[in-house]
Amino acid sequence: MSGPLAVNGGEKVFPENFGFAPWPPVRPDTGDKLRDLYMSAKWSYYGALEKQFADEFAAYHDSAYGVFMANGTVTLECALTALGIGPGDEVIVPAWTWIATGMAPAYVGATTVFADCDPGTFCLDPAAFEAAITPRTRAVMPVHLFGSMADVDAICAIAKKHDVAIVEDCAHAHGGKWNGKGVGSFGSVGSFSFQQSKIMTAGEGGLCTANDPALAEKISRLKHIGNPGSKFDASIPPQEGMLCKNYRATEFQALILLDQLHELAAASELREENAAYLRKGLESIPGIVTQKPGAKATVQNYYVVGMKIDPEVLKSGKTKADVIAAVNAEGAPEVFAGWGAPVYKHKLWNVPASGYRVHSSERAEEIISNRICLMGIQWLMSDKPTLDLLIEAFRKVMKEYSK
Ligand SMILES: Cc1ncc(COP(=O)(O)O)c(C=O)c1O
Repeated sequence: MSGPLAVNGGEKVFPENFGFAPWPPVRPDTGDKLRDLYMSAKWSYYGALEKQFADEFAAYHDSAYGVFMANGTVTLECALTALGIGPGDEVIVPAWTWIATGMAPAYVGATTVFADCDPGTFCLDPAAFEAAITPRTRAVMPVHLFGSMADVDAICAIAKKHDVAIVEDCAHAHGGKWNGKGVGSFGSVGSFSFQQSKIMTAGEGGLCTANDPALAEKISRLKHIGNPGSKFDASIPPQEGMLCKNYRATEFQALILLDQLHELAAASELREENAAYLRKGLESIPGIVTQKPGAKATVQNYYVVGMKIDPEVLKSGKTKADVIAAVNAEGAPEVFAGWGAPVYKHKLWNVPASGYRVHSSERAEEIISNRICLMGIQWLMSDKPTLDLLIEAFRKVMKEYSK
């Protein structure tokens, strides 16, 4: 469709009432089971469903242990505590991630060190990670961001060389496989979030995966005021030197997530197919380059689709924000710029005395401020005619706004 842009009063690419159902999709059968669970009056910690979910989720991701928790922020904190990381230590995180990844080292009194992202995947650049290592570096937290994966082969090799622990932040990557192996199984701990926007969600929730039983037990204790098992047992001594908290989740969350886990493979297939279609369509528009999926992703399991808009092709005075606003005006919801700033420039960034250090961030800053545009998860659960409309909306806007 050509003609004036909708933002200038032209006809919209999308039909007038186009919109998505709210995320996540709800399942009536899960609703029935939730009612039964409610009537059973057994909802709290270490129920049968929690154990089943944690075990199945960990196995799905090729990890031996799963610890179900309150959210994907405390999972990161507990992973670092269980690894013995604290004051005087440095933890390297990507310059571009959600605040939680940057805050986790500060929660345990360690220093957050930011390193730059790869321009293709937008995930932690292994070379930037290695360059940021000092004698105080104890851990690295690569993030499998949006619709990509950090290069875990390179990161594992560097971490091994420098004796640095890996905590994989898999908040966006449920079900992802790198070279056939589940995300969250490459380092010491994998951390997942089940917050409302995520691929799998119970409104809130988190989970740590691990392969070392001692580490898994420490994380269990950390989330359960020191108790390693299903029952409070006064004869079990507390874990020496660990300040354990209550970061438990409930049976309701486990039930919702179990049903989603059983559908994850099929939903993932749909998202992969739609992402490939969308990426191909968008890449055919001059000035648009999409986020590269993980180099060895055998299952990428997209959370959103990311792309860069080349500011050099835009007419003078036009920016990425103008493109997004014009595409939204064409009737396309869930097209947005993301978090808007690197972690340490975010309005919510608030570190205590442990401080932080930005080792490198040039690429992340440039991509975030001038280029990035994201398409939300609902697009990936839609169909090809709908994706065609989105591609058309971008084509129309880019034609008008390009030199
Ligand atoms: C990359 C990343 N890590 C960690 C988190 C924290 O998860 P939660 O919101 O469950 O605390 C998020 C949440 O949005 C995230 O995007």
